[in-house]
Amino acid sequence: MSPVVPPGDLLAAAKRVRKNAYAPYSNFQVGAALRTAEGIIIAGANVENASFGLSRCAEQSAVQAMISQGERSFGELLVYTEAPSPATPCGACRQILLEFAPTATLYLVNHQGLTERFLVTDLLPHGFTL
Ligand code: THU
Repeated sequence: MSPVVPPGDLLAAAKRVRKNAYAPYSNFQVGAALRTAEGIIIAGANVENASFGLSRCAEQSAVQAMISQGERSFGELLVYTEAPSPATPCGACRQILLEFAPTATLYLVNHQGLTERFLVTDLLPHGFTL
């Protein structure tokens, strides 16, 4: 099988925004960048809180920014970390991604270039919908 090559522009945006992560409690900085249906790149980093349950993942930050900018869907989202293995979105993020982009492609990339590719529905089969 040929290796998965992540979109370079999304990778650059996710790496850049990761530097803005506010992660003093976990020290695990995450950057996410998505490409909207209109082709606009929007990025988000994780934002933690002393009340841990209020922390927000990078994927959620990116989706919130997308909605706030008036966009409603995306075709691709890339998550960049410097973990030994590419980080996969948490369960809550999977449900949030499903809300706006069930058919989107996810690229999970680490600093060594290890890359995994999934569809949102691969990671959350039978997700909740209304
Ligand atoms: N985190 C993300 O931002 N995205 C993921 O896909 C997994 C986890 C954040 C949440 C928290 O700020 C830190 O990583 C450690 O869990």
